[in-house]
Amino acid sequence: MYQELDPSKAYRLLESGPVLLVTTGGGTRRNVMTMGFHMMVQHEPPLVACVIGPWDHSYDTLQATGECVLAVPTVDLAEAVTKIGNCSGVNVDKFTGFGLTAQRAKTVAAPLIRECIANLECRVADTAMVERYNLFILEVTRIRIDTARAERRLIHHAGDGTFIADGETVDMRQHMTRWRYLMDD
Ligand SMILES: Cc1cc2nc3c(=O)[nH]c(=O)nc-3n(C[C@H](O)[C@H](O)[C@H](O)COP(=O)(O)O)c2cc1C
Repeated sequence: MYQELDPSKAYRLLESGPVLLVTTGGGTRRNVMTMGFHMMVQHEPPLVACVIGPWDHSYDTLQATGECVLAVPTVDLAEAVTKIGNCSGVNVDKFTGFGLTAQRAKTVAAPLIRECIANLECRVADTAMVERYNLFILEVTRIRIDTARAERRLIHHAGDGTFIADGETVDMRQHMTRWRYLMDD
């Protein structure tokens, strides 16, 4: 038995990675939004493609500063992640509102989020597809990982307000013969 799914619902099947929080600005102009539409583009230099649209206040800040942080939340933050993606930071400080702790980044002015398991500092590397697709190509300039955190399961947005938390790890490293260098630390 099969069911047809409207082509416009492709995102429900092809969600590409963990849902992220994107911080922009800095100081009193700091802001954070939720983002599900992103993908790795290149290993070296490390490039990530992200859809951040003009409906987001973050879009204006990203355009103006050319910098952001991709913060990786875990399943315990799912409620905050959803709420952050359902309100604008144009007039409110979402860090205070959602109990997030801003920490200083090293290579960008946008803040890290202490509660997230990883923070990737990024600079806008290419805006060629922003006008057409709201697609920013970001270069990752620094990564900080919280190795002490107990909860480590990332969450994947199923496209409809439900999330899938990371589960079992399947180790196939012995078969990665062509791509052995990817397994270096
Ligand atoms: C689960 C989830 C995923 C989202 N993914 C994206 C996304 O990939 N790109 C985007 O522009 N907005 C996305 N949004 C919407 C923004 O997070 C939302 O517009 C947010 O309010 C923007 O905040 P800001 O106006 O303070 O920048 C998502 C929202 C949710 C709840």
